[in-house]
Amino acid sequence: MKICVLPGDGIGVEITAEAVRVLKALGLKMEMEQALLGGCAVDATGNPYPEATQKLAQAADAILLGAVGGPKWDALPREQRPERGLLGIRKQLNLFANLRPAVLYPELANASTLKPEVVSGLDILIVRELTGDIYFGQPRGIETRTIDGVAQRYGYNTMHYSESEIRRIGRVAFEAARKRNRKVCSIDKMNVLETTQLWRDVMNELAPEYPDVELTHMLVDNAAMQLVRAPKQFDVMVTGNMFGDILSDEASMLTGSIGMLPSASLDEHNKGMYEPCHGSAPDIAGKGVANPLATILSAAMMLRYSFALEEPAQKIETAVKKVLAQGYRTGDIYEAGTIRVGTKEMGDAVLAAL
Ligand code: NAD
Ligand code: IPM
Ligand code: MN
Repeated sequence: MKICVLPGDGIGVEITAEAVRVLKALGLKMEMEQALLGGCAVDATGNPYPEATQKLAQAADAILLGAVGGPKWDALPREQRPERGLLGIRKQLNLFANLRPAVLYPELANASTLKPEVVSGLDILIVRELTGDIYFGQPRGIETRTIDGVAQRYGYNTMHYSESEIRRIGRVAFEAARKRNRKVCSIDKMNVLETTQLWRDVMNELAPEYPDVELTHMLVDNAAMQLVRAPKQFDVMVTGNMFGDILSDEASMLTGSIGMLPSASLDEHNKGMYEPCHGSAPDIAGKGVANPLATILSAAMMLRYSFALEEPAQKIETAVKKVLAQGYRTGDIYEAGTIRVGTKEMGDAVLAAL
């Protein structure tokens, strides 16, 4: 197993270190090599996704990523921004299927900002399309145009999906639902946007191939509301890149913290990149207080999806459950009566539980 480790920026460095320690402790035959992605890569090479990283990522069986970005690089031209590196690697490796499981560990029922009865037992899978949509649409830009007789700045992006892009992510959602509670809710904005009318049509066309799975549709604004009103109505939610980005951050708070939400980004052959859903958290970077559990749980997803190693994957998840039951909490999930720890101590606790 060749794993490319991309710590990235900010807390990315701190949290991947803990996930790497956990992976190493499993005693599996694994080669790990680190490379630069994001702001650190811009600083070193001027390119957020340098050649050397591309080579390593392409040759690897799986990639573990921390997070990229930060205020230091926010003023750079768009092509040089750290986030471009992340979008570049997703696109280059065709990682179109982004799985974001929002699962509430019972010990964290009080860490959520929602009432425990609303979130207890929560287990949702958000399937987000990751290589299309307005994120990658052309034309795009900011330029000067004359509008209503006035020369002014004008910004524009293009939302787009082809039916084959929709079909392949739809299949991922239906297949995933088959291994769960057999319900897919497809999220769109078909009342306004043509792209998402096509999205709904293609989902409906796919449905007869999965007669054992119930397909429903919901408009994205309602879905955002339903997620905090009654999140347990959902099993698998499938949606485009943009809506999925927003809804998954929202869903993370149902699990107590964005520091708990892992993800897998897969191509058609289950080569994957694994990363927490959160960002580089500049406000707490370098302080050793970030929650590493989303990244550690992403490493478990790596073992499951890229290597079909279900047993060690579950071992990691069981260890995470155990440290939460023992009362260990980073600041983001802390509550009175629990044991406040930093990033490294949380990693230590998971290793001990393993
Ligand atoms: P963020 O997710 O980095 O942080 C949002 C809030 O959540 C902050 O208060 C942060 O402290 C907290 N938080 C996030 N992860 C945490 C963790 N593991 N433990 C404890 N608290 C945590 O989002 P942002 O502030 O909007 O973005 C910061 C930078 O990260 C931006 O440059 C953005 O582009 C980038 N970003 C990168 C990724 C990625 O690499 N996948 C994802 C999202 C944002
Ligand atoms: C995420 C992030 C990225 C996205 C950014 C950093 C490009 O928010 O992984 O959710 O929007 O996909
Ligand atoms: Mn996001």
